Amino acid sequence: MNAEPAPLLSVRNLVKTFPLQHPFLWRPGVDLRAVDDVSFDIERGHTMGLVGESGSGKSTIGRAVTMLVPPTSGSIRFEGAEITGLTTAKLRPVRRRFQMVFQDPYASLNPRMRVGGFVAEPLVIHGLMPGPGEREEYVADLFRKVGLDPAFAKRYPHQFSGGQQQRICIARAIALKPSLIIADEPISALDVSIQAQVVNLLQDLQEELDLTYLFISHDLNMVRHICHRVAVIYRGRIVELAPTRELYENPLHPYTRVLLSAISVPDPLVERTRQHLLMDPTLDYGEPDSRLTEVSTGHWLAAARCAVDHTN
Ligand SMILES: Nc1ncnc2c1ncn2[C@@H]1O[C@H](COP(=O)(O)OP(=O)(O)OP(=O)(O)O)[C@@H](O)[C@H]1O
Ligand SMILES: [Mg+2]
Repeated sequence: MNAEPAPLLSVRNLVKTFPLQHPFLWRPGVDLRAVDDVSFDIERGHTMGLVGESGSGKSTIGRAVTMLVPPTSGSIRFEGAEITGLTTAKLRPVRRRFQMVFQDPYASLNPRMRVGGFVAEPLVIHGLMPGPGEREEYVADLFRKVGLDPAFAKRYPHQFSGGQQQRICIARAIALKPSLIIADEPISALDVSIQAQVVNLLQDLQEELDLTYLFISHDLNMVRHICHRVAVIYRGRIVELAPTRELYENPLHPYTRVLLSAISVPDPLVERTRQHLLMDPTLDYGEPDSRLTEVSTGHWLAAARCAVDHTN
């Protein structure tokens, strides 16, 4: 029998609420639904992009998926097993299999720790390679993998450029041989000239180490370049999810169209005639009663009423 391989990550009906205090302290607060009924799969070796405006819930999805913030409800199956509801002890070995890379590499680094120690820290925490010689050799190898001279291991974070600091964070992220990396705006804080180098590194490592990525970004051109599929998030919900090419060539949801119309094109003639779509503040682009419907193979759309109004 030729069964489809199970996705590496399968998220169903994920909800994350944060309690908000009412401005009048004696009144009960309300819950903010930062992530609201989100479902998606990521196939092994693929890159899934999450795009959407600031505050739409992208980072919270990334954190909830890795259990950095416990989900309020929903199911997360990772490498074939449910991980919500696991005790801290049972979650520990699973945590080795997924890692995060954040936007600001300097904030992730420990300014008082030599970067070699920082990269080796997960190995120490998990009691792997206890012999210092063996660990040092492994760390040197990680430095080479991310394009850094292993001699740099003795230096401190402030002695590196932003791009090099992000390479160090990536070296630490791959130290425990994870299968999934959540990259939350990994290039936004870097110089434009460095961004492509870091993205190329992530792509090379994906191939070499068989990594799967959840790539969160504001950079729609970069998302188009590296992602296999893209989910558009609006107020905590997925409003459209499709293979990258299909989404960029045939966006159906009005919110996706607004987002994509903001992409600049490096051609002055095209730029001059490019039509910007503006958001209509009177519309709720993600009506709560809208459900994701598969409109063509792999292309999912929240069938909101406003989608009908804006099809042309
Ligand atoms: N720990 C928290 N406590 C309360 N509210 C939170 C917390 N973390 C996030 N939020 C709220 O949840 C919503 C989603 O935030 P989130 O950081 O996930 O958005 P985002 O899409 O990643 O935005 P950005 O693009 O700016 O990074 C926001 O309204 C935010 O204020
Ligand atoms: Mg964020």
